[in-house]
Amino acid sequence: MEIEFVRERFIKHFDGTTGSVYASPGRINLIGEHTDYNGGFVFPGAVDKGIIAEIKPNGKDKVCAYSIDLKDYVEFGLKEEDAPKASWARYIFGVCREMIKRGVDVKGFNTAFAGDVPLGAGMSSSAALESTYAYALNDLFGENRIDKFELAKVGQATEHNYCGVNCGIMDQFASVFGKAGNLIRLDCRSLEYQYFPFKPEGYRLVLLDSVVKHELASSAYNKRRKSCENVVAAIKKNHPNVEFLRDCTMDMLNAVKNEVSEEDFKRAEYVIEEIQRVMDVCDALEKNDYETVGQKMYETHYGMSKLYEVSCEELDFLNDIAFDCGVTGSRVMGGGFGGCTINLVKTELYETFITTATQRFKEKFGRTPKIYDVVISDGSRKLC
Ligand code: GLA
Repeated sequence: MEIEFVRERFIKHFDGTTGSVYASPGRINLIGEHTDYNGGFVFPGAVDKGIIAEIKPNGKDKVCAYSIDLKDYVEFGLKEEDAPKASWARYIFGVCREMIKRGVDVKGFNTAFAGDVPLGAGMSSSAALESTYAYALNDLFGENRIDKFELAKVGQATEHNYCGVNCGIMDQFASVFGKAGNLIRLDCRSLEYQYFPFKPEGYRLVLLDSVVKHELASSAYNKRRKSCENVVAAIKKNHPNVEFLRDCTMDMLNAVKNEVSEEDFKRAEYVIEEIQRVMDVCDALEKNDYETVGQKMYETHYGMSKLYEVSCEELDFLNDIAFDCGVTGSRVMGGGFGGCTINLVKTELYETFITTATQRFKEKFGRTPKIYDVVISDGSRKLC
């Protein structure tokens, strides 16, 4: 997406002047799903699709915001009671409020924004939006006093406090900290992170978007998180130092089998295994062992489908096709309940895989999946 596209609309929509332009990306995640809020590891990277926003302080005490893609215009004040109804505007409002809570003297501004992260595809379009505004407000009103981690937390708190999703830190972290050509392993408990150059020779990473959006995704997501907390509470009785599922072993989980629901047990089993898989994948990557990376991705898919139950028929189908086509690794990516599969495929198999997947998906579901080639890119930044 181009700056000019946003700028032209900003000029047209407001008083003809220009402001500053900021951008933040969506993300992929190679492995480590639903591990962030369990204190575990994640392995995301920013992508070349994101949000671009032009912003200019307007000398008033209200925000005048225009969504170019939705052709929707909303005005809101900066006090807690001024929350707008439109869900897209709540993200911007939430970021303003969270910055104010952190001592930034946010004033009114005019803004127009547009994005090319597909909505509901599991690529974190909402985190891209939050990071864009957190980064911009810090620059415009906060003298860049808020550090990058806190900016990611501003986005996360926006989800919690203004959008009803009790998400972890992965999406906002990846959006703010992204670095071209690198995946980032983040320890979500200590917040230590490490960049891993990711240029798998002879392979390509591609997303297949099922174009399924789950209506109740946010309540189902919050329910998964609750299950994990239930299990931690049960294990804590015998092991008071346990804080997250990250601290638990399968033996500890088995010991409380009769105290937790069957469902909660399955959820925790998935998470404990998934945290280990991230470590295994990092080891394998250091040895350029993409076969192991791929195998772990299939294991994650199985866990997300059968234990965590966040897949759906369309995603399982795409995963099966990948397997049939000899794709090295494939799994549902992101929170689940629809969205994309992420696929690690040998370059020579790429064309056959895409053609076969497109055809077979169309035969079964009457529409074609969308295909996105992944380019790992930079995080939040000021463009001009
Ligand atoms: C969503 C959340 C993240 C993370 C993933 C699953 O994207 O926003 O915090 O929990 O789901 O890994």
